[in-house]
Amino acid sequence: MKYLPFVATLASSALAAGINFAQLLDQKPLDIADNIKWELKPEVDSAALQSAVNELDLKIEAANLFKVAHGSVFEYGHPTRIIGSPGHWSTVNHLLDTLHHLKHYYDVDVQSFEAFTGILKSFSLSINGVVPKSADALDLTPPTPGGLPVTGPVVLVDNYGCQASDYPFNVTNGIALIQRGSCSFGQKSELAGLRGAKAALIYNNEPGSAKGTLGTPTPHMVPSLSLSKEDGEAVKRQLLGSGSVSATVAVDAYVKKFKTKNVIATTRYGNDSNIVMLGAHSDSVAAGPGINDDGSGTISLLNVAKYLSKFKVNNKVRFAWWAAEEEGLLGSDYYVSKLTPKEKSQIRLFMDYDMMASPNYAYQIYNATNSENPLGSEELKNLYIDWYVEQGLNYTLVPFDGRSDYDGFIKSGIPGGGIATGAEGLKTEEEAELFGGEAGVAYDPCYHSLCDDLANLDYGAWVVNTKLIAHSVATYAKSLDGFPLREEASPVKMTAQPNFKYHGPNLVL
Ligand SMILES: *[C@@H]1O[C@H](CO)[C@@H](O)[C@H](O)[C@H]1NC(C)=O
Ligand SMILES: *[C@@H]1O[C@H](CO)[C@@H](O)[C@H](O)[C@H]1NC(C)=O
Ligand SMILES: *[C@@H]1O[C@H](CO)[C@@H](O)[C@H](O)[C@H]1NC(C)=O
Ligand SMILES: *[C@@H]1O[C@H](CO)[C@@H](O)[C@H](O)[C@H]1NC(C)=O
Ligand SMILES: [Zn+2]
Repeated sequence: MKYLPFVATLASSALAAGINFAQLLDQKPLDIADNIKWELKPEVDSAALQSAVNELDLKIEAANLFKVAHGSVFEYGHPTRIIGSPGHWSTVNHLLDTLHHLKHYYDVDVQSFEAFTGILKSFSLSINGVVPKSADALDLTPPTPGGLPVTGPVVLVDNYGCQASDYPFNVTNGIALIQRGSCSFGQKSELAGLRGAKAALIYNNEPGSAKGTLGTPTPHMVPSLSLSKEDGEAVKRQLLGSGSVSATVAVDAYVKKFKTKNVIATTRYGNDSNIVMLGAHSDSVAAGPGINDDGSGTISLLNVAKYLSKFKVNNKVRFAWWAAEEEGLLGSDYYVSKLTPKEKSQIRLFMDYDMMASPNYAYQIYNATNSENPLGSEELKNLYIDWYVEQGLNYTLVPFDGRSDYDGFIKSGIPGGGIATGAEGLKTEEEAELFGGEAGVAYDPCYHSLCDDLANLDYGAWVVNTKLIAHSVATYAKSLDGFPLREEASPVKMTAQPNFKYHGPNLVL
């Protein structure tokens, strides 16, 4: 589909969101110059920082992000802020421009790193002439030669396909059928390739989608598709019965390597043994402009960073805008991997803010407990709970399972947590009672789609959550009294969650 010119789509998307487009364009830049001397600033205070949060500032920045996403239309055919695209570079530059106005208050670091992204053009699968409905391509899959179909006998792989010995010798030139579980999709694909398979089919071991990623490309990986539990088990039954099964697979895809950048801003003042850190991801998926995911968190942090600059802090505050979250948390992983032990020990906690404004929202708090995560994670969870309760709002606890950028911190022994408003999951009846909205509908029906635009935001929920972000920043910037001291990274807890199922938006195992 050809995309409408920017002004037309911004206007219609803005209109649908009840935004007066002309009013937005007329807005003067905020007074963000940091021109009051540090000594004269008032001490940070939660109520004061929260009261700075307002809907118009969020809307102006959302319009900015939607506008820069259109810089990618020429190359991608539609607006996007995926890493490597003009829309993402402009997002990074917009963050840097804004922070430049605050240069007396923040030290800004730009961290470059390389990331892979998979571009899937098409794929097909037929098994004994039947096209399984559930087939999906794993992210970062290599193509079949020339993107053309390959055909071979389907060979059942033993166990979970996590050992070379699980792969029978007749997998060579065949199509490996592997059960999901126990090790990563990437490891299975690599082992199938080492045994000479033409392709790998990984079928789910639990109901639901197996939307997954191969993780990081390795040399022997083969074209890899996922199947539902039902479809995979049907093929397995055929194989174990008398029948031989033949499959034809075609994958037209490529993997591209991009250089991209994290943006990190740390207050110049404040105790640097007590760094209060928070992050959002600056990138989107290729499919759309990502205004909720994670334009919303990106903007909440940017606005809170502006408001905070009016105040004196006792502890340092560090804001991070990660790149390549959508490729598997690459920016936050890279950041954590570069920290020295001393730098790690200075970070008292990490707060993740990914998807703050889903249209069919729930107020979700990551269920980060101290028994399974670094000490302090639960205190952070309780700060969020207490705040929602104080506001007379309902909340729900959701799994803390590696789907966003807290992952690297938790695995390094740094306490963490965060809030979200929901992605592709369906709102339950019970949640519709708690939050309004529609049961049986996704929290964000435009998750990872083209329609994640200005009309895809619940501005009320976004203001609420931005106030909560302000509260979390102000509370810990003022004092960490009563917040547990950093413990030595506990090997017990590192292995309590050895393998989060997710590593970013996609399943990895
Ligand atoms: C592959 O070999 C296994 C035994 O190692 C056998 O059970 C299976 O039927 C063979 N599959 C095909 C397609 O030849
Ligand atoms: C900074 O924080 C550390 C750890 O809480 C504390 O020991 C130290 O006294 C603080 N420094 C200042 C200047 O307050
Ligand atoms: C939160 O996690 C704890 C510890 O794993 C678990 O016992 C509890 O049931 C979880 N709560 C919810 C609501 O998922
Ligand atoms: C909280 O949930 C209850 C149902 O359990 C509902 O009656 C109430 O209206 C909800 N509160 C808000 C602020 O939505
Ligand atoms: Zn996200």
